[in-house]
Amino acid sequence: MTIDDSDSGRQGASPPQTPRRPPARGQSHDLERYAALFAARTQVMTSSAMRDLMALTDRPEVISLAGGLPDTSTFPAEEFVEIMGRVAQQTARALQYAPTEGLEACKAAVATVMGAEGTPVDPEDLLITTGGQQVIDLVCKALIDPGDVIVAEGPTYPGAIPAFTAYQADVVQIPLDDDGMPIDLLEETLDRLEREGRRPKFIYTIPNFQNPGGVTMSLPRRRRLLQIARERELFVLEDNPYGVLRYEGDPLPSLFGLERASGSGANEFVIYLGTFSKVLSPGLRLGWAAAPHPVLAKLNTGKQGADLNSSTISQLFVAEYFASGAWPAYITTLKERYRRRRDTMLDALAEHAPPEAHWTRPQGGLFIWATLPDWLDTTDLLARALSRNVAFVPGRAAFLNGQGGSSMRLNFSGVAEPEIREGVRRIGEVIAEQVRLYGALTGRRDPEPPARRPAPSDDALADVLHLPRPGKGAGRRSGETR
Ligand SMILES: Cc1ncc(COP(=O)(O)O)c(C=O)c1O
Repeated sequence: MTIDDSDSGRQGASPPQTPRRPPARGQSHDLERYAALFAARTQVMTSSAMRDLMALTDRPEVISLAGGLPDTSTFPAEEFVEIMGRVAQQTARALQYAPTEGLEACKAAVATVMGAEGTPVDPEDLLITTGGQQVIDLVCKALIDPGDVIVAEGPTYPGAIPAFTAYQADVVQIPLDDDGMPIDLLEETLDRLEREGRRPKFIYTIPNFQNPGGVTMSLPRRRRLLQIARERELFVLEDNPYGVLRYEGDPLPSLFGLERASGSGANEFVIYLGTFSKVLSPGLRLGWAAAPHPVLAKLNTGKQGADLNSSTISQLFVAEYFASGAWPAYITTLKERYRRRRDTMLDALAEHAPPEAHWTRPQGGLFIWATLPDWLDTTDLLARALSRNVAFVPGRAAFLNGQGGSSMRLNFSGVAEPEIREGVRRIGEVIAEQVRLYGALTGRRDPEPPARRPAPSDDALADVLHLPRPGKGAGRRSGETR
């Protein structure tokens, strides 16, 4: 029953009318009808560009370099059946509610994953959640009042944006460079905010193989960030879905681990977010938070209001899987596969991207961040790319203030090597067309950035800048040595 129809069902109401067809879904007048009923926050809530894109790219003919999908295709079906069989031996438990904080056996699996990264954790410090995504939501629920400041990296994880906006946070982004978040810029920003009487509630960072930037925060920056968090008494939300998926270079300690190893030996300001999504399966929808106890208690209360507990069946699956000891071999397979795919994408970019483009060369994770000449707009390009059945995430999805217009996020884990090559080739073609079109319109062969879009204000630039031009760790041009 729609709101307008509510009277027509009443006894003794006016004569029956021809039943009115409900308006098509998503029409704007449809939304207006409910306007008075929606909470004010829905006016600032934004949807995740990635989730919207997933609906568009679900067609089999589309090569999607847009998702953040791990490759679940090689998880052995027999092993899945076997594990589910063991879960079925505990049917009554599997079909029952679980404690909000999670099953002990699942927490033991978390300890294994964190241990693999050299971050010991006490099961008492954990809350099992419905994906890592829920940790972001719960942290906002626990910490953010409307107008509170969150400091994030620029670009940041596009999926965090709907959570930040739903809680009406004011997000200030710090531009990334090859070593992650530049801490001097962070300090300048914190000083400026302090002068304005604004104290951020937390600093959100993805230190390993950042999504979408592909860069990793250096060890000195990690140490300095912790120092700042302690000095200024600010929380750091360390989002670490990809740390285990390192393809080269030496592993770096997590912020959570560094904090624990330093000073008091306890965690005071780091809230750690982990997930089974990228190291096992996103279909399980299981993640976790590790945090100081007072924070954990608030997150737990927030979770009670959200979903009582995360899937018991999934938790038992994880527990059985990790108990089987199969995980290290599976991770090795994933790492080998993703490394090959990353290399394929880097080679394809070197072959097909225009000379002015540059891109990151991630040491792990799932994403490459490519930046085109300023006058190319990747949101426009996406429409053209989709008509050629290839998709990527346009850079603006990773910013809250319209920056990132000439960048794109490319995923290399979710599709096989031939599709990566073909997908990048098609994107290269679409770019080349735009370059030719621009050249024909302007008579220039080597286009200068035109005054195509209004330049961002100095204020906006203070918060958000593009990734720097190629330097240490950035992608190479075709013909350069690897
Ligand atoms: C940086 C980051 N954080 C959190 C998530 C949420 O993942 P999930 O809810 O599947 O655990 C993702 C997923 O892609 C991510 O990339």
